Amino acid sequence: MREGCRAGGGGRMECSWKTVLLLVCASLGVQYTAIRTLRDSLSGPCQGAYRCQTRHHRDSRWRALCDWMPVDSPGKHILLFATTRSGSSFTGQLLNQHPEIFYVYEPLYHVQQAFTNSSSRLRRTLDRRALLGAYRDLLLNLYACDLHFIENYIRPEPQDHVTNSFFRRSSSHALCSPPVCLEGGEVTASDPPDESWCPKKCGALNLTLASMSCLSRGHVAIKTVRVPEVGDLRTLTEDPRLDLKIIHLVRDPRAILASRMMAFSDQFRAWKIWNATGRQPRYVDLSQITSTCKDMAASAETGLQRPAWLRGRYLLVRYEDLALNPRDKAGEIYRFAGLEMEDRVRTWIAKNTNSNASSPSEWNYRYSTTRDSRATAESWRLRLGYDIVRTVQNLCNDTLALLGYKQVHSAAQLRNLSHSLVEHRTFQPVT
Ligand SMILES: *[C@@H]1O[C@H](CO)[C@@H](O)[C@H](O)[C@H]1NC(C)=O
Ligand SMILES: *[C@@H]1O[C@H](CO)[C@@H](O)[C@H](O)[C@H]1NC(C)=O
Ligand SMILES: *[C@@H]1O[C@H](CO)[C@@H](O)[C@H](O)[C@H]1NC(C)=O
Ligand SMILES: *[C@@H]1O[C@H](CO)[C@@H](O)[C@H](O)[C@H]1NC(C)=O
Ligand SMILES: *[C@@H]1O[C@H](CO)[C@@H](O)[C@H](O)[C@H]1NC(C)=O
Ligand SMILES: *[C@@H]1O[C@H](CO)[C@@H](O)[C@H](O)[C@H]1NC(C)=O
Repeated sequence: MREGCRAGGGGRMECSWKTVLLLVCASLGVQYTAIRTLRDSLSGPCQGAYRCQTRHHRDSRWRALCDWMPVDSPGKHILLFATTRSGSSFTGQLLNQHPEIFYVYEPLYHVQQAFTNSSSRLRRTLDRRALLGAYRDLLLNLYACDLHFIENYIRPEPQDHVTNSFFRRSSSHALCSPPVCLEGGEVTASDPPDESWCPKKCGALNLTLASMSCLSRGHVAIKTVRVPEVGDLRTLTEDPRLDLKIIHLVRDPRAILASRMMAFSDQFRAWKIWNATGRQPRYVDLSQITSTCKDMAASAETGLQRPAWLRGRYLLVRYEDLALNPRDKAGEIYRFAGLEMEDRVRTWIAKNTNSNASSPSEWNYRYSTTRDSRATAESWRLRLGYDIVRTVQNLCNDTLALLGYKQVHSAAQLRNLSHSLVEHRTFQPVT
């Protein structure tokens, strides 16, 4: 029990340092107007972990605050670095369930939206890298628990640091439970994954309270699919104010394609026609999968080269391994992050990867038995025509080889699920 305060012997109240910090921040926040003008975001009064780490807190107001922080400031900054439809929601939940992790689901969405909508001319010329500076800037501020900073991108603009438009708020335990949401109470692992329950129950999101909740939890985990390559994160890994841990989640590109075809049928209409007719339409956009393969391979190769800037900061995780053996893989992820895997995480895994879970729904990270989770991870093999599979294998052959995914050489082999396409591989963290 490290959270909150409790009565000690002789009626004394003993408080954890985090609670004290929270209280100090709360009282400073009332007097100190800087917490409201969040532009000057890195000089607000509640940058505790972040500031104390640098040990350059000249402002005497900080000293008292910093004295409460443990000597080796323990805040971990975890980045779940993934690609669309690679199992990142499930993997994110493994982090979200930890009571001391402040988890945010795809905050970079707001940056992309803000720029995409600002002018139609810009929309046409934006490429995947155009927003990287803004992405990194937002990540840095979120790791510092400065939730006000994201107001620059949220539309409509928040009023009085309160918003109704926070993307996928319900995916974040911290944004739907005390102190942010007094109505929220404990979210049980079996709650349905309804995106609207949290705003309904909790009302608008007070970003000041969110910042305080973040500080009180101590560790921050962020999921994103919007950063193309791990090399794009180098400046963050080298930033002395951060202790960044990158979990690079990869998945078989053939499975990613099948999943995208199901989830985004408009964008993947040409592929669906191909799948249905067995003939490749001339207008099919192959880059919808080749750019994913290229990025995944580039990042994995960077990791395999073990550059100094990734030491202790990079772990490659195949989604298939996680689906087959969630408990052990989650343990590996937590060891890499330098955190204890709390019971709540274990309970969540047990409930959500077990056939006894309440309702097997379309919740795509709810599996039944271990054998069935293998089936889920490999269900693409029953959903894609052999012709498409062969084409993707040719386009992505290097990526498949690098990550240990076997090619199939006939339709029969594709459909034969007792023939596994996932080679046994061990990917050690970069040390
Ligand atoms: C951007 O524009 C789209 C379509 O016009 C709209 O649905 C969306 O809500 C807008 N997003 C923001 C953040 O304004
Ligand atoms: C948000 O929370 C802070 C801290 O508790 C409080 O001071 C502020 O009044 C709240 N904002 C609104 C609009 O309720
Ligand atoms: C699942 O349910 C079955 C029967 O209802 C029971 O025998 C089994 O022990 C349960 N398994 C777990 C892991 O709870
Ligand atoms: C591809 O076609 C098969 C039937 O030929 C269908 O069962 C499957 O759902 C289709 N896959 C996708 C991703 O649309
Ligand atoms: C992938 O295909 C290219 C072109 O066909 C070939 O040059 C390359 O050696 C292949 N890579 C692997 C790992 O098989
Ligand atoms: C399916 O694959 C397994 C394992 O490679 C093999 O033993 C079996 O003969 C295959 N079945 C068919 C029908 O090809």
